[in-house]
Amino acid sequence: MDAMIVRGGRVLNGEVEASGAKNSALPLLFSTLLASGEHVFHNTPKLNDIQSACKLLDLFGCETQHDGHVLRVKVKALKSLEAHYDVVRKMRASILCLGPLVSRYGEAQVSLPGGCAIGTRPIDLHLEGIKALGAEVSMENGYVVARAKKLTGANILFETTTVGGTENIMMAAVLADGTTRIENAAKEPEIVDLADYLNKMGAKISGAGTSIITIEGVNSLKPAEHEIIPDRIEVGTLLIAGAITGGCVTVKKARPDHLLSVIEKMREAGFRLTLEDTAITIEKTPAWKGVDVTTAPHPAFPTDLQAQFMALMTQAEGTSVITETIFENRFMHVQELVRLGANITPKTRVAVVRGHRGGLTGAPVMATDLRASASLVLAGLVAKGETQVNRIYHLDRGYERLEVKLQSLGAEVRRTDQ
Ligand code: EPZ
Repeated sequence: MDAMIVRGGRVLNGEVEASGAKNSALPLLFSTLLASGEHVFHNTPKLNDIQSACKLLDLFGCETQHDGHVLRVKVKALKSLEAHYDVVRKMRASILCLGPLVSRYGEAQVSLPGGCAIGTRPIDLHLEGIKALGAEVSMENGYVVARAKKLTGANILFETTTVGGTENIMMAAVLADGTTRIENAAKEPEIVDLADYLNKMGAKISGAGTSIITIEGVNSLKPAEHEIIPDRIEVGTLLIAGAITGGCVTVKKARPDHLLSVIEKMREAGFRLTLEDTAITIEKTPAWKGVDVTTAPHPAFPTDLQAQFMALMTQAEGTSVITETIFENRFMHVQELVRLGANITPKTRVAVVRGHRGGLTGAPVMATDLRASASLVLAGLVAKGETQVNRIYHLDRGYERLEVKLQSLGAEVRRTDQ
């Protein structure tokens, strides 16, 4: 079981470049099913989740090729319309093949993803949306089976804002008969990136990035080429690495407009942040303090940075109340941070962090999910001595060579095969 060993005490300084966004690349990959031919994506991060998505596309009969950060997807006549349990259980975003498959091929058999560490992760809103567009949906042996001769545009109101649900319905509606209007749509930058690519393919989508998205169905789409947006969660993680060690770090290939709530929160805590078109610089000021954070759908503070921000708050002077409103079990990093000496009192959806500069001491800890593992690495950067983060494979799902990026800023961090 490989681990990451972090020796605390180094101040991180310098420049580092963010990779492309995992949560944009994944829906983009599945959108290729909507058009035969060769799709080309630039700035595609090399991550285990991207590998899993490519494996699923290959099983459908596509040909994927990921050289450097250019990913080519050749879509031909598919040999299967089944997203197998073995792939879906490892990468729940595979559910995003549902909309494209039903929309273009009239059928999809997608294994139910099952829950994951951070929550039950239901897909009821995805299925209600696909049904509203006219698909017959049934459950057969743990698989969602959806069929439709031709989808028909509809008005869809999501009772809960859902990123994946918005993406699935957008991709289903682009080839439907008539117009679809999604209300209470997710507004994340990844939704806008997907809509941009679908429109490049010939779709007619307006309103992406707002809570009302309108999709006018078209007869067919063509493959295109696209540059994936930077990963705002990785950018936030790298900024926190600079902040927690008291250094001055510039993250390049960043989009400040994708992280306004995080920038605002870091400034409220007392950090100085300088914004450029495609870069963000953070540096500490003498008296930074604990601040309260509540996660919520974009443009509010992202749930995917909650664990990393909590690691930072363990070092703040004063108390921080962190409220997680998106997922029901996203505090599993708390007990591991407490093992390092953090003073955190978790309740169901709220954690009270009593910050204490220099209060962490290195110890073996266990990564439980992708963002929790990043939180533990960040805490290790300031814990006295060595912190061993076990089950580091979680990190590789969503961060491309994070240890190399941290080393380039001066961190003492290495991988070991246990
Ligand atoms: C996406 O997951 C991201 N994953 C998650 O990032 C991110 O945390 C999440 O959005 C919220 O921003 C990808 O984009 C691949 P949701 P998704 O549907 O689409 C409930 C990471 O660390 N819900 O917006 O699955 C759900 O339970 C990952 O990179 C339903 O009730 O999230 C949750 O409480 C983790 N029914 C809320 O909505 C549904 O049908 C938001 O979930 C769908 C969702």
